[in-house]
Amino acid sequence: MTDNKITFADQKRKTVETAEFTEDGRYKRKVRSFVLRTGRLSEYQRNMMNNHWAFYGLEHQNTPFNFQEIYHNDNPVVLEIGFGMGKSLVEMAEQNPHKNYLGIEVHTPGVGACIAYAVEKKVKNLRVICHDAMEILRDCIADNTLAGLQLFFPDPWPKAKHHKRRIVQSEFINNLTPKLVDQGFIHMATDWQNYAEHMLEILQSAVQFSNVSETNDYIPRPDFRPLTKFEQRGHKLGHGVWDLYFLKTN
Ligand SMILES: C[S@@+](CC[C@H](N)C(=O)[O-])C[C@H]1O[C@@H](n2cnc3c(N)ncnc32)[C@H](O)[C@@H]1O
Repeated sequence: MTDNKITFADQKRKTVETAEFTEDGRYKRKVRSFVLRTGRLSEYQRNMMNNHWAFYGLEHQNTPFNFQEIYHNDNPVVLEIGFGMGKSLVEMAEQNPHKNYLGIEVHTPGVGACIAYAVEKKVKNLRVICHDAMEILRDCIADNTLAGLQLFFPDPWPKAKHHKRRIVQSEFINNLTPKLVDQGFIHMATDWQNYAEHMLEILQSAVQFSNVSETNDYIPRPDFRPLTKFEQRGHKLGHGVWDLYFLKTN
């Protein structure tokens, strides 16, 4: 920072979740799928976030978003949860100008980096939110408004005692299902076999969805999914990659 002024972007980290209280006024501790990492915002990311939030940023609100007003068109809206540094999300938005993209990420340096890359690529069909995706899904997304959900390399929480923190749970799919349009998709990818098996089990038990996989499990890695930072890291560690693609058919 050139001066010590606390800016909007610096503050954002403190508002990624809404505090909830029990009836007797105690803070409700919730099981979250993330831990806020301490990575600091670079000056460039901070400036990009401060200067371009008015166009790219959306805030948590207690009424559903009006996508027509936000994107100024009726194109299908694809939601991506946990976009990390956002490079692959911006690439997808650039490659698919007839779709609108909505990215959610709690890691502020990632949000800053994503906005910076979107500005560089002059991408206009993308908006980002810096807030817990669970709350956004619950409060801000109307039924039958999402063309699809992308969840690429979500935190694997490998220890059994942490599995409850994995974002993919039946409850998450139950909350998501009404938000998707008929034939809406769920596309997940992970480099943890055990998480892939868990994702498959959860999605197979969701009766409204059909598996697109010819082998009834995973699909070959699709070319239309750009390489993500965590996927690249997984490659270096010798991990495999599992893609799952389901359609809402009932
Ligand atoms: C392992 S990283 C993967 C990032 C990116 N998709 C990639 O493949 O490089 C998972 C990301 O999900 C984000 N995340 C986890 N739970 C979230 C939630 N409930 N709402 C928003 N973001 C979340 C984390 O902050 C983290 O950046």
